[in-house]
Amino acid sequence: MTVKTTKKELLDVLDLKNKTTSKLGLVPTMGALHKGHFSLIDQAVKECDLVVVSIFINPTQFDNSSDLEKYPKNLHNDLEKLEEFQSELIVFAPSTSEIYNGSLQVNHYDFEGLDRKMEGAFRQGHFDGVGTVLSKFFTLIQPDRAYFGEKDYQQLLIVKKLIQILNLPIQIVGCPISREENGLARSSRNERLSPTQYHKATLLYKSLCKAKEEFGTKSVAEISKAITLDFEKDLEFNLDYFTIANSKTLEPATQLKNGEKYRAFIAAFLGDVRLIDNMALN
Ligand code: PAJ
Repeated sequence: MTVKTTKKELLDVLDLKNKTTSKLGLVPTMGALHKGHFSLIDQAVKECDLVVVSIFINPTQFDNSSDLEKYPKNLHNDLEKLEEFQSELIVFAPSTSEIYNGSLQVNHYDFEGLDRKMEGAFRQGHFDGVGTVLSKFFTLIQPDRAYFGEKDYQQLLIVKKLIQILNLPIQIVGCPISREENGLARSSRNERLSPTQYHKATLLYKSLCKAKEEFGTKSVAEISKAITLDFEKDLEFNLDYFTIANSKTLEPATQLKNGEKYRAFIAAFLGDVRLIDNMALN
């Protein structure tokens, strides 16, 4: 494993390796690595000749400074975990000033409305921040493929749109959600849950399973109402949204159309930890 912290060092090592490399993969992360991240790296390693894993907590995608402060950080631990990968990885772990040059300037993108729903509605400016940092990484590293989890399904669609906007020849690969034994979607934020909260947090997964079971037999409004009530029963939960939406446009499903794909999306605070999850319904 090679670890680089500056753009120049990274480009030097990529130049050297790229002479013999035909396919370069990129797995962007914010660290606090877990099996969800590893599933992306595994897929990248299978499909590419060389893989860059970036570890960078991007300040411009946090709308709330306390969320940024509380975000788990442990580069030493992350590097130890990455050491266990059999294949040669290049880790890019730059400082904030290396990426932003002292001014946290954010680009604004026209994501054609994909950014205004769900996460975008609850986290002001979040997707412009994601777009800004990824456009910097994509133009610097120029990967052939970049890997993103369906755990952040809205982000995955927005990254695909970003590639179109920037007109970059990068293939965006979506990877399935990796879950704990109890169904909870793996997330760096799970580290902050107490053992009781960890158990309770399965309500998100259970709600999605229930929605999937009832999809097509009950109306979208009925399903949503029952799930909202389930969350209201426990005062430690604060449901941001439960939405059933079209998988391509993310438009809320009011009338279901034949041949269209739908997904259920959920976001809730459990105490002060914000959790999100989603599931394909058909
Ligand atoms: P982060 O939350 O660290 O996630 C990095 C990647 O891992 C994302 O593509 C995310 O969808 C994926 N991922 C996280 N948990 C997963 C799980 N349980 N199963 C499958 N994939 C999972 O997402 C970000 O960082 C940032 O927004 C980033 C893209 C790095 C830009 O700053």
